[in-house]
Amino acid sequence: MAIDSRTIRNVMGHFATGVAVVTTKDKAGLPFGLTVNAFTSLSLNPPLVVVCIDKAAQCYSCFRESKVFAINVLSEDQEELSTRFATKGIDKFQEIKWHKGENDVPLLDGAIGYIECKVANSYEGGDHTIFLGEIVGVSATEDRPLLFFKGKYHRLPLP
Ligand SMILES: Cc1cc2nc3c(=O)[nH]c(=O)nc-3n(C[C@H](O)[C@H](O)[C@H](O)COP(=O)(O)O)c2cc1C
Repeated sequence: MAIDSRTIRNVMGHFATGVAVVTTKDKAGLPFGLTVNAFTSLSLNPPLVVVCIDKAAQCYSCFRESKVFAINVLSEDQEELSTRFATKGIDKFQEIKWHKGENDVPLLDGAIGYIECKVANSYEGGDHTIFLGEIVGVSATEDRPLLFFKGKYHRLPLP
């Protein structure tokens, strides 16, 4: 029996995650990015991460052609930024603060962690592509993360 997409999405929503914006640049150096939670650490030796990007994303071709990307782990105060980077057809980098990291990849100010990567490989994954990133730089703050659970944003309870 085929399971419908809405049911799968509902059940997957029970898996609580952090929220990140994955960023890259095109050949002209223009910044691109989208909100993701299909991100995971994969290997320490060699240092590898995985991020899955929808082939229907407007910025997909940019990721396809780029050799570098960065994972910006969002803070609990960056819900608006998450919504912005999950909105199609807008200039996502206008009026936000960002700077350049290793290999000139855009990094969003205020993120609680940065994982900068070179694309090591990519694999077909149905309607998504799985990008394997070799970590070339990392940094983090002690700030608190934005969480996503059952289709809504959450914060860690205060200690
Ligand atoms: C919390 C959250 C998590 C998301 N996770 C992913 C993801 O892992 N991969 C993905 O391709 N899209 C994901 N999306 C959807 C994209 O952010 C959204 O469709 C985005 O607008 C696509 O990029 P585009 O504007 O270039 O088309 C997520 C959206 C939200 C709000």
